Amino acid sequence: MSQKAPKLPNRQTPFSDAFVSFIATDWEPYPSELPAPLPASAHTAARRDAVSAAFPGERLVIPAGNLVVRSNDCDYPFRPHSAFAHLTGLGTDREPDAVLVLEPRLGEDAEPAGHDAVLYFKPRAPRTDPEFYADPRYGEMWVGQRESCEEMSALTALPTRPISDLPRALSDRIDTVAVRLVRDVDVPLTALLDSLRQEAKGDVDRVGDEELATALSELRLLKDDFELGELKTACDATAVGFAAVAADLPTAVANGRGERWCEGVFELHARHLGNGVGYGSICASGDHANTLHWIRNDGGLRDGDLILLDMGVEVDSLYTADVTRTLPVDGTFTAAQRQVYEAVLAAQQAGMDAARAGARFSDVHEAAIRVVATYLREWGILPVSVEESLDPVAGGQHRRWMVHGTSHHLGLDVHDCAQARKEFYREGTLRPGMVITVEPGIYFKSTDLLVPQELRGIGVRIEDDIVITDGAPRLLSDSLPRTADDVEAWLAAQRG
Ligand code: GLY
Ligand code: MN
Ligand code: MN
Repeated sequence: MSQKAPKLPNRQTPFSDAFVSFIATDWEPYPSELPAPLPASAHTAARRDAVSAAFPGERLVIPAGNLVVRSNDCDYPFRPHSAFAHLTGLGTDREPDAVLVLEPRLGEDAEPAGHDAVLYFKPRAPRTDPEFYADPRYGEMWVGQRESCEEMSALTALPTRPISDLPRALSDRIDTVAVRLVRDVDVPLTALLDSLRQEAKGDVDRVGDEELATALSELRLLKDDFELGELKTACDATAVGFAAVAADLPTAVANGRGERWCEGVFELHARHLGNGVGYGSICASGDHANTLHWIRNDGGLRDGDLILLDMGVEVDSLYTADVTRTLPVDGTFTAAQRQVYEAVLAAQQAGMDAARAGARFSDVHEAAIRVVATYLREWGILPVSVEESLDPVAGGQHRRWMVHGTSHHLGLDVHDCAQARKEFYREGTLRPGMVITVEPGIYFKSTDLLVPQELRGIGVRIEDDIVITDGAPRLLSDSLPRTADDVEAWLAAQRG
């Protein structure tokens, strides 16, 4: 359901009657040929079946979300909610205000018998409708041709209905059917369903809604073959973007505000090869690398410094890569930079070696952080023994230099499966088909008096994306170099 767009009568010229009758005439008919199905649509029915099985007999409402105003009558680019994208296969730009409803079927014995999925969306208005020319948010003259119901069905392999039918469908059987909603994605829809449920049942059942969000998040812990293919494509596109940034480092140094230059070059490729970036790019040179989510990116680049680049392309199906490389700006690591880099690489390798089916998710972090703590102690920085620091209750001193976790799930969201219960996530077991990052770092702030002078201001993170398999993990981000020597050789090759 759409949110209100502001009216701007100070700028809109009224339409004459002559224009209104003239604009509706003499257009070619819309093509009768239906569009090809979206590649994801071959995989979404199985996902919906899994949701159906988890909530027998209940109506499940999964919105795409609304356009969000950036300022006045300008909206942010639309990105559908990830649960909606997962269950419909709709990606780039599709489909503001759409809502997927899984309507419970009853068998002959009145027992729950699966669900009928229906996609409610705003089909294109006829050219006789003022929307065609007068609606800057939805009109064909402003935002391009929309799908008919038949065309949207062909794209998604889903039955479709106009969104105007949704309020009636939601009111139907409201007294008797349990309803769960992915809350707060579509603000007017949440208000409508809350009032319908409150009136019919005297209760909104927010807990039930949370359980649905959790189930949809946990459903994404295991990726199917299509998703693994999309994530590989995202990683390969990301490597193209990294290579373009590497080739342009001398220009970034020369132009000033080089972090922004790197951000812009990567985003050019992200937008060209995919939907865009999967999260705000972190382009952090020198001491900025020690700010974990440095996205201001307004610093200059200097030869002799490192630049930490944490960037990922989100492809049109909305799966994203999440990759970090820390590069010497002038092409060659100093001895101190290489010392830190190789420690982080050893920690990352230990994390990857631990990333085996059957291991705990937390084993990856524990393996990596042990290596980090060991180096910190060896360098005389960690003031307590490795074992004392790794003590989960009384220790933790090493976290001063790596405060974040080593891994998270990756998929449609950079931090995928964020609503999964901790027993399936942080305390969960790795299974074949999971995709996680492995991203240890060591961060020595320039102001840290515990760190030897020559290491201050150095921050290194190395982040790769892996698939858990029955054997060794499969590296998705294998198109980029990892070792210090390979990074230097690759940088030289990009510069030509
Ligand atoms: N790019 C954010 C992260 O690595 O988690
Ligand atoms: Mn990450
Ligand atoms: Mn990252």
